[in-house]
Amino acid sequence: MVRICFVCLGNICRSPTAEGVMAHLVAERGLQGHYLLDSAGTSAHHTGERPDRRSAATAAARGIELPGRSRQFLASDFERFDFIVAMDQSNLNNLRRLAPSEEAEAKLSLLRQFDPKSPDGAEVPDPYYGGSRGFEDVLDIVIAGCTGLLEQTAP
Ligand code: 4NP
Repeated sequence: MVRICFVCLGNICRSPTAEGVMAHLVAERGLQGHYLLDSAGTSAHHTGERPDRRSAATAAARGIELPGRSRQFLASDFERFDFIVAMDQSNLNNLRRLAPSEEAEAKLSLLRQFDPKSPDGAEVPDPYYGGSRGFEDVLDIVIAGCTGLLEQTAP
């Protein structure tokens, strides 16, 4: 079982998009039994909220459902997941601070590092205060990253 938690700031735009995209790609390949997927935010600001309606609408237009409700990432999540995949450097830095051990820190990555076409250190941009084009871009970027992540982890 590959256990993956996607992490952004609010857990209402980028990380639920990544979770929904990954679930969609996993299901397309019939690998549901091999993956445990979740997402979380480094902030608790939107706890309990469903994904942002702009993220949900952009994903739905491509047949992708966004799951869950926002929750804050917990230090104990380092034990529950094999891959903890941050959307940007700021989230990654916050997660590093929470990591209880070197072993835990080794589980951290940036989503775009799994996309062979992305430069080192590339981020999924925060779409929250932008227009709808930002959400389309986020979805394209997330699909590329999750496709690479699936290729690197599939049985
Ligand atoms: P997310 O987007 O981190 O991709 O879920 C954001 C959601 C909310 C805020 C910022 C980013 N906010 O400032 O409330």
